[in-house]
Amino acid sequence: MEEKRKILDDLKRQKHAVIMAHYYVPEEVQEVADYIGDSYYLSEMATKTDADIIVLCGVKFMGESAKILNPKKKILLPAANADCPMAHMASVERIEEVRREHPDAAVVCYVNSTAELKSHSDVCVTSSNAVKIVRSLPNNEIFFLPDEHLGRFVAEQVPDKTILLNDGYCHVHANISPEAVKAAKEAKPDAKLLVHPECLSEVVKMADYCGSTAGIIQYATQSEAKEFIVATELGVLSELKKRNPDKKFYAAGNTQICPNMKKITLDKVIDVLEKETKEVLMEESMIKAAYAPLRRMLELANA
Ligand code: 13P
Ligand code: SF4
Repeated sequence: MEEKRKILDDLKRQKHAVIMAHYYVPEEVQEVADYIGDSYYLSEMATKTDADIIVLCGVKFMGESAKILNPKKKILLPAANADCPMAHMASVERIEEVRREHPDAAVVCYVNSTAELKSHSDVCVTSSNAVKIVRSLPNNEIFFLPDEHLGRFVAEQVPDKTILLNDGYCHVHANISPEAVKAAKEAKPDAKLLVHPECLSEVVKMADYCGSTAGIIQYATQSEAKEFIVATELGVLSELKKRNPDKKFYAAGNTQICPNMKKITLDKVIDVLEKETKEVLMEESMIKAAYAPLRRMLELANA
C-alpha cells in the first residue's frame, strides 16, 4: 500500500493532478483521495480545483458532471464501465411529453442521469439540495427524474407543489427492505436509523435522519447517540468509522453494495493516471447544453 501511495503521489505531482472520490468507492481508494464527498461536493470541487487532471473515482455521471462544469480539464474515470443504471431510467421523449402536457412545469433532473437527460432539463439537483432547490423554483409543478423515491421524498417535504414522478430507482437502495430495517431496529433498539432518500418510502418513514451521504455522515458525527443503523451503500462506513471511532454502525440489510462503485480499485486509479487513459470525452454541443442546468444547481444550492 505504501509503495502504491508513493507512486500515486509522484504521478500527481508530475501531472498536476488531484484524486476525487465518492464515499461509496472501496476504502483503499477513499484513503488516497485528495477530496472525498457526496455527489454535490464532488461537482462543486470540480469547479474549484486548479489541477490540470482530475481522477474522478465514482460512476460515469460523476465524471461527466465534472467535465461539463470544467470542459478544459482532463477528467479520468478509473473504471470507464462503472455506470449508474438509474442514470438511464428516464427518456427525452417522456420529458418532451410532460413539457407538452404541463407547459408550466419545471423539469428537475437528479445528477444521477445521463448528460442527454440533463441537457433537456431546467435544473439539476443532488440528494443534498433537491428539497431546497425545488422549494426555491417559481414553478408550482415539477417533473422530477429519474428517481421516483427521491422525487417522492421531495414531494413530501414540499407539499405545496405538485411533483410529477418518473419510475426510475436505484437497485441498491430500493433493495433495502422495510422488513430488514424493522429487524435491525428491533435488534438495536437504541440505534438511530440513517436513511438515504433513494430508499423506499416505508424505510424513509422509519428514519431518524434522511439525507445525502454527506448529510448522514454529518448527522452521525454531531449526534449524541452512540449507535446507528445505516440504510445506504456501505462505502460510507469508512468515513463514519474514521470520524467516529467511539460509535457503532450497523448495516440495515445485507445487500447494500453498489457493484459499479466497487469497480474502482487503487490499481486502476494508478493505471489511468500513469497512462492518461479513460478520459471522459463528450461532444462540445452536449457539454454546452448540459452546462446551464448544472450551473443553476450550484447557484441555487448556495443561494
Ligand atoms: P449522494 O448524493 O448522497 O452522494 O448519493 C449519490 C448516489 O449515487 C446515491 O446512490
Ligand atoms: Fe447508482 Fe445506486 Fe450505485 Fe448510487 S448506489 S451509483 S444510485 S446504482
